[in-house]
Amino acid sequence: MIALTNLLHVLAAIVWLGGVSFMLFALRPAALMLPPPQRLPLIAQVLKRFFWLVWCSIAILLVTGVMMLLRVDMKNAPLGWHLMLGIGLLMFAIFGHLYFGPFKRLQNAVMAADWPEGGKRVGQIAALAALNLALGALAIGCVNLLV
Ligand code: HEM
Repeated sequence: MIALTNLLHVLAAIVWLGGVSFMLFALRPAALMLPPPQRLPLIAQVLKRFFWLVWCSIAILLVTGVMMLLRVDMKNAPLGWHLMLGIGLLMFAIFGHLYFGPFKRLQNAVMAADWPEGGKRVGQIAALAALNLALGALAIGCVNLLV
């Protein structure tokens, strides 16, 4: 059972962080070839689909992460586990802000064909997603190195 919990936890992390890496380092630079009226609706549609996967990943990470923590007395848990809990909660909050702030504004800008506003919001989304990618790497480093 615990092996399955761990597996689901790691798979959810791969979906989230792998998807963010693809967005930041492959899709976004390639999409710059398109003019804003084509690029921004494309990015908004891609993000809409990917963000559903992120919400699912967050739910799985939270449930499986807490299940793993409940197996041990928190007082005796390795430092890396405490850090993963804290960094994980911070990542969830950053994603919530990204989704209900810049992403919703990007969708509104695309509907209004306001391309400068849309470009600004994509920049904010990319910065917050890059922050979460770095935090995710840090959390995984902590859980592996601080035992
Ligand atoms: C509240 C949120 C979280 C909690 C409570 C939590 C809890 C844990 C715990 C207890 C472990 C250690 C399992 C073990 O060694 O047996 C673990 C491992 C792991 N966590 Fe989390 N986690 C959370 C969020 C995240 C997030 C946001 C990510 C990345 C997106 C993540 C990625 C991983 C990975 C990849 C491992 C496996 C590390 C390895 O064994 O190499 N976790 N998590």
